[in-house]
Amino acid sequence: MAKRKIYLDYASTTPVDPRVFEVMKPYFSGKFGNPSSMHSFGREASEAVEKARVQAADFFGCEAGEIVFTSGATESNNFATKGEMIAIVSHFSQRKIKPHIITTQFEHSCVLNSCKKLEEQGMAEVTFISIGKDGLVSVNEVKKNIKPNTALISIMYANNEIGTIQPIKEIGKLIAKENIGREAKIIFHTDAVQAVNYIDCKVESLGVDLLTASAHKIYGPKGVGILFVRKGTPLKRIQDGGGHESGMRAGTLNVPGIVGFGAALEIAQQERARNYKIVEKLRDHIFVRVTKEIKGAKINGSKIKRIPNNANFIFRDVEGEGMLLGLDMEGIAVSTGSACSSGDLRPSHVLTAIGISEEESHGSLRVTLGKYTTKQEIDFFVDTLKKVIDRLRKIAGK
Ligand SMILES: Cc1ncc(COP(=O)(O)O)c(C=O)c1O
Repeated sequence: MAKRKIYLDYASTTPVDPRVFEVMKPYFSGKFGNPSSMHSFGREASEAVEKARVQAADFFGCEAGEIVFTSGATESNNFATKGEMIAIVSHFSQRKIKPHIITTQFEHSCVLNSCKKLEEQGMAEVTFISIGKDGLVSVNEVKKNIKPNTALISIMYANNEIGTIQPIKEIGKLIAKENIGREAKIIFHTDAVQAVNYIDCKVESLGVDLLTASAHKIYGPKGVGILFVRKGTPLKRIQDGGGHESGMRAGTLNVPGIVGFGAALEIAQQERARNYKIVEKLRDHIFVRVTKEIKGAKINGSKIKRIPNNANFIFRDVEGEGMLLGLDMEGIAVSTGSACSSGDLRPSHVLTAIGISEEESHGSLRVTLGKYTTKQEIDFFVDTLKKVIDRLRKIAGK
């Protein structure tokens, strides 16, 4: 009999919802046109892309013209940070100062490394603000670090490793206040990739100018992203080539992917409240069972200001990789850090940022649930985890 397989790594990626797959299918072969072409094949594809743009605009509460489709959140985040600096460089160089970016120490690597590169290239000065032990950015910390040359603030909405929700609305309000009478407005960007499934992402209520999302985290296909760009935001393209997406980027559009993203957003909107409740109950069940039944277990990050599908633990005297492999042998998929950095045994920069020592962070495990997760799966997971940890501790003589 084939072994049962249990997927508890939804923050890394999600399966495509069969309803999403159905609407994508025609655009692979029958309706395969290039949306830039003027003939009927092209028009058919272009209409599908524009429908998805409207679905996205409905979801984020913006105008369709403010949605730019990209190849994923990595591109969107590179575009938001680098494209912003390119757009404002002349304003600042005329004044012989560098623009200043505020971001956090626990952003996804595509924001973190984009900012580091801008700093290395001398295009910006960057402040990487610290995070509280609870995994939360303080509005006051943002405020304290704003300077006359601050041009961009980029703070993620929900962290991909520990799931903590940042006070984006409050930071948006702070920036709006700071912008009164300011010559060059501070642009506010949020990476909302992990938030889209569960929390309000209306750009007006968040007060953001730029927002990043990714289809494959919300039961859509891989390789499609969005950057919401508020009308009037200075932003320059970072790719050379054709004038796609109203000249904002270059590259033939991924039509099936974009169609799938639109459908996935529509479904996410309709089913958010229901999915929230389902995963929250199961995740809380994990919290209760693990902390009660496994000694030396600690939850990382605030338990309250947290997306409902994320459980992140440190287990004393046990290696994350050992747990991951032990669980994998039993058909259970989890993660010990962000998916993009798995295979890298350095301590997670997120755990380091919330004050967890290198030694402790080696015992970390991230469990992320989704709309297909069941109670039976969760119980089997906890039962198996207990056995795996017991075995590993015995081997290590702990
Ligand atoms: C918070 C966050 N930002 C950005 C990304 C990158 O997304 P993509 O795979 O669409 O490039 C991820 C993926 O793990 C993420 O979790």
